[in-house]
Amino acid sequence: MESIKLRKITSVWILAVFVLFIVSIILGILMRLNQGGVINQNPVTFYANMTTHGLTMIGIWFVAGMAAINYLMERYVKTSYTVNLIALVLTVIGVLMFWVSTFIGKFHAAWTFLYPLPFKLLGAESWSTLLFLLALTIFGIGWLIWSVSLMTQILRKYSISQAFAWQHFKKNPSVDTPPFILISMITLIGVIASLLAAVVLLALLFAEYFSNGSFVNDALLMKNLTYFFGHTIANEMLYLGLAVIYELFSEVSGRPKWKTTWYVALAWNCTLVFILTAFFHHLYMDFVQPEGFQIIGQMASYLASLPAAGVTVFSVLIAVYRTKMKWTLTNLLFFIGVAGWVIGGLGAVIDATISNNVVLHNTLWVPAHFHTYNAMGNVLFSIGFFYWFSTQFAENIKPERFTKWTLATLLIGGAGFLLAFYYGGADSIPRRYSVYPAELSIGAPWAVVGAIFATVYLIAILVFFYNISKRCLKILSSPS
Ligand code: HEM
Repeated sequence: MESIKLRKITSVWILAVFVLFIVSIILGILMRLNQGGVINQNPVTFYANMTTHGLTMIGIWFVAGMAAINYLMERYVKTSYTVNLIALVLTVIGVLMFWVSTFIGKFHAAWTFLYPLPFKLLGAESWSTLLFLLALTIFGIGWLIWSVSLMTQILRKYSISQAFAWQHFKKNPSVDTPPFILISMITLIGVIASLLAAVVLLALLFAEYFSNGSFVNDALLMKNLTYFFGHTIANEMLYLGLAVIYELFSEVSGRPKWKTTWYVALAWNCTLVFILTAFFHHLYMDFVQPEGFQIIGQMASYLASLPAAGVTVFSVLIAVYRTKMKWTLTNLLFFIGVAGWVIGGLGAVIDATISNNVVLHNTLWVPAHFHTYNAMGNVLFSIGFFYWFSTQFAENIKPERFTKWTLATLLIGGAGFLLAFYYGGADSIPRRYSVYPAELSIGAPWAVVGAIFATVYLIAILVFFYNISKRCLKILSSPS
């Protein structure tokens, strides 16, 4: 049974994630309005906002997944409240430093801060790069401690082979590894690997920063490290959401609990291996990269996504097909989220295929697919959890009056916003342009369409925020 302190800190995480999400969506809408020519931001402001939007979104949906698995893990193993609190405090400090670096210091090298961009910024304050790198260091410390702590707690109860569910490859295993533990373990290893790469990356950036020109980094090595970190963490945060679904989907639907089978164990073990090499697909246009890595990148992109998607979709379909089940907002959000994850994943696999990437590389197809599995995938996994969590301690839960309308608003807003990106991408409109030049003028009306639908999506998010946060505030004000 989880402690009241854990309930309260989980409520704080939920409130913080929602507030930062709403601000970041507004920044996203402003970007689309600028690309559509409706408003006129100077380029430095546009790129500073893009940097704030990108890293805040990645950060909040990562911590949302971590807070959710931390809460649910108490069902199986004891977790550390102190570590959870340290992660919260360091995340808040990190966000404040990062936002000062972008909003005031005008740091604008994008959330990927690809070398040597952070050292070549025009129009930014000279201190902003150092502050941005320090903010990343603070995030890295907090999140690394948190991930290692959760993994250690799993390994106190389960042996390594049990944590990876290897005993499920044989018939009648003596110990059952719950799917939640298996997926959390696999994901935490990937998270820790990506954060360790970030430590090396930051160390190299600091070394060049303080060397006064006597030390210069190798750009290809830096790009490999950047995408090993960035691609891996952006994907692992989705898997945190999937761990939550494996734990809660059957429970909220009033169905028997999902169990680990040999094919679930195999699929997630494959994911562990292949997700760590799929990042090579970000370097297809770096022709100095050895060709073998490009081929590994394409193969790993398929192998990392298909097994996990296959078994998850299979499990969800089996759970809902011709069965009488209780539909609640939580499993509806999980169900729609899995669809969004799969559609976005297909868009990603199309782009990760080398012959397609020649056409789609760095076009709006890229934000199209990753916004699909984030805005209509992982975000819904987490909001499903937030809703479930907030209703656990409330009395007399009545179905919310506008649930159907809110979901319809979310779907219409999300689909329109994403289609505007996909259409732009298929039409070769490049990503990350603050204003489209005359040759790409078709990008502008689609950006306005995107902004309108994103506003519709925002309305649905505000309704969820209102309903969930009032219950979280009650949890916070309840006696300890
Ligand atoms: C309705 C909500 C959202 C809106 C309106 C929005 C809008 C945008 C826009 C306009 C861009 C720049 C596209 C370009 O390259 O031209 C962008 C980039 C990005 N967005 Fe979103 N977005 C939303 C939700 C999300 C979510 C949920 C995530 C979660 C991870 C996310 C993560 C990112 C990232 C990582 C970038 C890349 C930034 C970069 O290139 O450095 N966004 N978004």
